[in-house]
Amino acid sequence: MHWETRVLDAFGGKEGAIDPEVLACAARWLRQGVPVVIPTETVYGLAAPALDRRAVAAIFVIKGRPLDNPLIVHVTTENHIAEVGAQLSPLARLLAKTFWPGPLTLVVDTHAALAWVTAGLDSIAIRHPRHAFAAALISEVGPLAAPSANLSGRPSPTRACHAAQDLAGRLPLVVDGGDLEHGLESTVVDARGESPILLRPGAITAEELEACCGRAALVPAPNGPVRSPGMKYRHYSPRAELWLYLPPHAEGSAPSCQRLMDDARRLRASGSRVAVIAEQRVDADHFIVLPGGARELAHGLFGWLRELDERGMDYVLIQGIYPAGMGSAVMDRLTRAATRVLGADPGVGVSQRGLS
Ligand code: TXA
Ligand code: MG
Repeated sequence: MHWETRVLDAFGGKEGAIDPEVLACAARWLRQGVPVVIPTETVYGLAAPALDRRAVAAIFVIKGRPLDNPLIVHVTTENHIAEVGAQLSPLARLLAKTFWPGPLTLVVDTHAALAWVTAGLDSIAIRHPRHAFAAALISEVGPLAAPSANLSGRPSPTRACHAAQDLAGRLPLVVDGGDLEHGLESTVVDARGESPILLRPGAITAEELEACCGRAALVPAPNGPVRSPGMKYRHYSPRAELWLYLPPHAEGSAPSCQRLMDDARRLRASGSRVAVIAEQRVDADHFIVLPGGARELAHGLFGWLRELDERGMDYVLIQGIYPAGMGSAVMDRLTRAATRVLGADPGVGVSQRGLS
């Protein structure tokens, strides 16, 4: 099916007040079982009513998403939680009370047979988003299943134009919510046991989870069983080769760009177009200053990867940051997107990623 895709402003040009006609338009498509793109405070989502099996199936087709990768259901009320059969453990209740509405997804038990959302797992992922448009739409049409609104494998969309770039022609409506608060997907936590298990780092950090529940957030062993199907796929990838230079081991020790600079020079000398994202200016075909804070980097990263593809770069060389707090979410995404992960200085370990 080919659609004329319209991009409509969630706020009708007025900051803060949702445009009721845009809300009604999105609600109408969803009630007809047709997925639409909506803003959330993390990234743009491709939404369909969670209880409508055919509409949710269309999400997988539109994105080209593997069928074994379950979706997050977005809710705003206790009724919605009950409708999708989610059973919140005491830990899940505590985390929800502290961090909702917000960028935290909880994996909990479910007794409902929503296999089209859960990919047949006996758990379900739920999140109460804070974005005003998403929340209003959910209140209007009920629980919405929504993955990030990119073609599978591409960087998540942080602007409406990114979603339109990937999905135009595949759906009737992209709702433009402007610049989003975080620009990185939610933290995903398995909250079925007594300690939180961090399945995907995000804007809610391991330190914040620990401070909330008084227990360290556990991290699944890298070679253990797959607890979150989405994490086994190659992700967030620009078309260009992405080389990631790990920061020095100790926080606060002076970063070095020597290896990155040498590589940039060598690659350019052999005729490649090279972009660099680093603290210190490096000769390159396109240079972006690495922001000082992890939150700023998270906010810009996916957009820059798309922009560098548009500029026709063959290589993107990026300096990594220290993986603490929000920095661990950024490094998680960069490591998954990278085609090579290198030490900061010549002679420090080199690895080549072969992610599926
Ligand atoms: O910020 C976000 O989370 C955005 C916005 C739109 O809400 N959504 C998003 O969805 O990033 P998606 O589908 O791109 O990522 C969802 C992740 C995947 O890694 C998926 O495997 C995991 O959540 N997931 C979903 N249900 C799960 C479950 N029952 N158990 C474990 N992991 C689950
Ligand atoms: Mg995604």
